[in-house]
Amino acid sequence: MSRVFFGLSGSDANETQVKIAWCYNNVLGRPNKKKIISRQRGYHGCTVIAGSLTGLPFYHKAFDLPQGPVLHTTNPHHYFEASEGISEEDFSRKCAVDLEQLIVSEGPETVAAFIGEPVLGTGGIIPPPEGYWVEIQRVLKKYDVLLIADEVVTGFGRLGEKFGSHLYAMQPDLITIAKGLTSGYIPLSGVIVGERVWGVLKDGSDQFGPFSHGYTSSAHPIAAAAGLANLDVLEREDLTTNAKLTGAYFQGQMQKAFGDHPIVGEVRGRGLLCAIECIADKKQKTHFNPELKVGTRLSAACLEQGLIARAMPHGDILGFAPPLIITPEQVDDVVARTQRAFDTVLATLDLSG
Ligand SMILES: Cc1ncc(COP(=O)(O)O)c(C=O)c1O
Repeated sequence: MSRVFFGLSGSDANETQVKIAWCYNNVLGRPNKKKIISRQRGYHGCTVIAGSLTGLPFYHKAFDLPQGPVLHTTNPHHYFEASEGISEEDFSRKCAVDLEQLIVSEGPETVAAFIGEPVLGTGGIIPPPEGYWVEIQRVLKKYDVLLIADEVVTGFGRLGEKFGSHLYAMQPDLITIAKGLTSGYIPLSGVIVGERVWGVLKDGSDQFGPFSHGYTSSAHPIAAAAGLANLDVLEREDLTTNAKLTGAYFQGQMQKAFGDHPIVGEVRGRGLLCAIECIADKKQKTHFNPELKVGTRLSAACLEQGLIARAMPHGDILGFAPPLIITPEQVDDVVARTQRAFDTVLATLDLSG
């Protein structure tokens, strides 16, 4: 995958993805194959089409979204979405069946692409259940649907592999990159285009002329220089390996500290991406009353401790994405500060029912 179209944000890159998928099918003479499937709880940006791909109502409500030929399929969160006693593998198969039913009911000749984050990010940091991407890719292949891996968060080492696609044996046709490409120092995003799609786009220039899509600041030299400098550091200091090793320690320590905590339902993550999800009743898996704003208060309490942890927009979820240079000692510090923040908030909650 050596062709890259550069943009400035993850959102504009995903707009480009959709236009590429549409152009691809126009060139192939399949004008009806235009629908894009994403997932409930997925996050792909907030422009009109990228915001529509996003599967979080919070980002739709005030803006007449979703718009366009966009469909949403099952959120692959085993903890909440799987029926009692269903294994991760069986739940993955169920997600694939749901996807297949959606494609068949819409008509495979109308479905162009499936977009997904290897690990759902903004929707709550949700790693896929065991076998998920293998099952999903089987369905996509069967119906000739392109796979777009949105690696805006998971690309460039965050999960302890270069890309999330490596970790889960995904073979995407297209990849969205942003954030980690420059470590956020300068805005730069990109769409990596695989040969299968590139070949068609190239042939299409006979019919449609050059690919007429581009921004004034596409591939801006300063952004490109920042990207190259950043990737040099990433490679020279082998930060992906640090994300793997220190990431494994981080996941273990978070699990140890919060796995059995009275208000924690699940500690989950991969590499240097971790979430703690708080719930009111662990047996029933019921959420806290949203008016209590438990997640937001935990995030504020962390900040009081000098620690940035994000209150994720869906549920009482605290998200952690520490820098890739973090050391095990700093992990211990993060965990200790988070514990103090939990103690502060817990003292204000009435857990008597
Ligand atoms: C997976 C994913 N895709 C796309 C985007 C949108 O990127 P941007 O905020 O740069 O538009 C984000 C932003 O958080 C993201 O997490």
